[in-house]
Amino acid sequence: MAPPAAIRWFAVVSALMLFHLITTSTAIYCDEDDCYDLLGVTQSANTSEIKKAYYKLSLKHHPDKNPDPESKKLFVKVANAYEVLGIM
Ligand SMILES: *[C@@H]1O[C@H](CO)[C@@H](O)[C@H](O)[C@H]1NC(C)=O
Repeated sequence: MAPPAAIRWFAVVSALMLFHLITTSTAIYCDEDDCYDLLGVTQSANTSEIKKAYYKLSLKHHPDKNPDPESKKLFVKVANAYEVLGIM
């Protein structure tokens, strides 16, 4: 027999809350790197600072300007970090 709807609802809500707690209590990571470190900003940086840092780095590491394959990797990482932080 399935448990009453209220109990199932409670289980779903507590699972979601627990998940939320876990994800917000740890730093936001972009693969193995801290997104903020990648962009060279602190966690207290506001959106305009994050944007500025991203533009600076994306120009610096842009594949058109920088033929180094490491640079392209960084360019992708920085773009990802900006995307992750941009939705926060
Ligand atoms: C973000 O922070 C910078 C430096 O602290 C400040 O100059 C700027 O006005 C802030 N921008 C917003 C949108 O709060």
